[in-house]
Amino acid sequence: MREQGEGYVYLVGAGPGDPELLTLRAARLLREADTVVHDRLVHPAVLEHARPHARLIYVGKEGGGESVRQEDIHTVLIAQAKLGRKVVRLKGGDPFVFGRGAEEALALEEAGVPYEVVPGLSAGIAVPASAGIPVTHRDLSGEVTFATAHRVGSPPDWHFLARAQTLVLFMAGDRLEETVRALVTAGRAPSTPAAVVEAGTWEHQRVVEATLGNIALEARREAVGSPALLVVGEVVSMRSRLPSLVAGGSTKAGHPEPWVAEAGHE
Ligand SMILES: C[S@@+](CC[C@H](N)C(=O)[O-])C[C@H]1O[C@@H](n2cnc3c(N)ncnc32)[C@H](O)[C@@H]1O
Repeated sequence: MREQGEGYVYLVGAGPGDPELLTLRAARLLREADTVVHDRLVHPAVLEHARPHARLIYVGKEGGGESVRQEDIHTVLIAQAKLGRKVVRLKGGDPFVFGRGAEEALALEEAGVPYEVVPGLSAGIAVPASAGIPVTHRDLSGEVTFATAHRVGSPPDWHFLARAQTLVLFMAGDRLEETVRALVTAGRAPSTPAAVVEAGTWEHQRVVEATLGNIALEARREAVGSPALLVVGEVVSMRSRLPSLVAGGSTKAGHPEPWVAEAGHE
């Protein structure tokens, strides 16, 4: 229980982009916050929930430059809480899914700062859905594996990942070629349907659909950038059977006409 005047940190998931995918709890905490510490994957409209006099601190990448060091983010959170402020640490998606939220929670724990985690909608589920891809399907896939292509230390277990019925790979954007090569070398058929979704649920969402064997080439041709997710598995073929979703009936900020590039399956 939070005591009067005591600083407190909420590690809050901001969802995948579309501001309407923010939870009601996140919106309320933002309205009450004295300080909001946010990063690159948070839609600007989400920050409009904050009070006009709240202090906004940006800790994301600037123009592709160096990230703010994780230790410096911990220092900011702890310092703001120790001033007796109510701090919302806003993170893209869910704070505990590939978001270093656990490291922030540990730092707060060790500093004796009271905190809690407010889950958010992870891009891993919301972004494929927004592109017309159900991550599970009774006939096509009874499991989904979330992984990151960017691992510090040991490399991913490609043989395990190559066997996943539905594979959702985070942070695959800038190393798509190596990722695809690794999956195919580990036994995944190059003819498997695959899609790269860039900026899923944002106004400028883009989807490139191809086979696993062609997806890296197609994504490069379309100059797909970050943030992007790679989805591999038969479920990707559902896009062609859900044209109403793919045509923009799905959840995307502003519901614009989506930009879609389709490459023929082998
Ligand atoms: C540091 S991880 C954060 C994941 C986040 N905590 C979550 O639960 O969605 C960043 C990666 O998430 C993926 N990502 C996040 N938002 C995305 C979006 N709107 N569209 C596509 N990929 C996204 C990308 O792979 C990006 O490189």
